[in-house]
Amino acid sequence: MSNLIVLGAQWGDEGKGKIVDLFSERFDIIARYQGGHNAGHTVYVGEQKYVLKLIPSGILRSGRVAVIGNGLVIDPVALMAEIEMLEELGVDVRGQLKISNRAHVIFPFHRMVERISEDSPEKAIGTTSRGIGPAYEDKIGRRGIRVADLLDRDNFKAHYTGNQQDKRKIAAAFGIPATDDDVLAKYAEIAEKMRPMVCDTAALFAAAIRAGKRIMLEGAQGTMLDVDHGTYPYVTSSSAASGGACTGTGIPPTKIHGVLGVSKAYITRVGGGPFPSEDLGERGEFIRKAGNEYGSVTGRPRRCGWFDVPLLRYTADVNGFDSLIITKLDVLDGLDQVPVCTGYKIDGKLVEEMPASQSALARIEPVFESLPGWSKPTAGITDFNKLPAEARGYLRFLEERTGVEIGCVSTGPERNQTMVVKGSRMEKLLGA
Ligand code: GDP
Ligand code: IMO
Ligand code: MG
Repeated sequence: MSNLIVLGAQWGDEGKGKIVDLFSERFDIIARYQGGHNAGHTVYVGEQKYVLKLIPSGILRSGRVAVIGNGLVIDPVALMAEIEMLEELGVDVRGQLKISNRAHVIFPFHRMVERISEDSPEKAIGTTSRGIGPAYEDKIGRRGIRVADLLDRDNFKAHYTGNQQDKRKIAAAFGIPATDDDVLAKYAEIAEKMRPMVCDTAALFAAAIRAGKRIMLEGAQGTMLDVDHGTYPYVTSSSAASGGACTGTGIPPTKIHGVLGVSKAYITRVGGGPFPSEDLGERGEFIRKAGNEYGSVTGRPRRCGWFDVPLLRYTADVNGFDSLIITKLDVLDGLDQVPVCTGYKIDGKLVEEMPASQSALARIEPVFESLPGWSKPTAGITDFNKLPAEARGYLRFLEERTGVEIGCVSTGPERNQTMVVKGSRMEKLLGA
């Protein structure tokens, strides 16, 4: 019986949605543990494309239970739009989805106050402008409104109005116009639609574990966007790293049996912040085109760069990766040489640890090594031994330098364009 965490090893958009959807066949419950509709997980099932934002990718497998854990921040309007989109495509969302009564609620006033920092070029993080950060601020500030409070008809109005008035004062002080009208009636209506799906999801997990069911925990964002371990302050406001899976669900660490990291064969980032292996030249543009690297939530072009070994070693340490899934290997098809960032220097000296201060992060000089590209394409290959020798060499190089097994490789967006490496630890964890 293995309960696994599958999460992003870089700055998000590693292909978690595709991988979670693929693996979900082997699990009974698939749960999200943090974030909100800042996430965009694209999944192809045959010709059909789904972009999941709040709902775990496991919803696409009939009979699986999909859980929105207590660690998320939920925009009820976005949630209903996503439910309706999936229902139109024939997914039994109301039969499969459970929502934590302890998750926090995003209101329009959260987006309103997000503008205070995001409208200022000096303070902007380049967020998704979904109200995520301000909702987590309210959670930690102990003034948030949780799903259980939203469903509490007698007390919701007073709770909401007090909070809204405070936010309006703050917005007015910064010259931001109020944009949060018509909320009470709309939210009350959506609350009734949500009510049948809301429950104590920690109790649901405890009962499932007692019954021997298998749970997969789906990370959103990536470790370098984690509020503690990422490139602070250019991060999201939640705990995307593996530790967040316990606090964000109520599943204890003793009931988690493995952690799988998802990483692209290169790397991307959306929004501001340090990016040591970024390629601002033609080859960066090549990756953006070949990998279709445009944000699935905001449509922004993703910044592109080369696989970063020091970053991956760091995220492997803070997450405890048992095995890595390398996605989008096919995007590098056609390159003569594939650069890899194998070290960091600051002020001309090699550094072993991930720097913490903003100024040190900004001063990282990447050290590159170059590996030969492959003569034949990898797109769609599903057997490790059938990959061109140079592509296998590239993967072996990443494995050696990061010190983590590569247990799965993805060579295209579809479910069947994937291979689990025979005899790997990943195969055991998935099969157990
Ligand atoms: P997530 O946020 O980690 O779920 O990743 P996104 O869905 O935002 O971005 C990954 C994109 O790459 C999606 O459009 C996927 O369909 C696509 N994708 C995933 N794996 C592969 C792969 O191996 N090759 C190619 N070419 N595309 C992939
Ligand atoms: P998935 O789950 C990539 C980035 C934003 C911004 C920073 C903070 O699809 O991998 P926020 O709105 O969260 O306060 O923005 O985090 N960001 C993501 N980047 N993938 C994501 O999710 C992201 N979610 C947030 O671009 O830099
Ligand atoms: Mg994404």
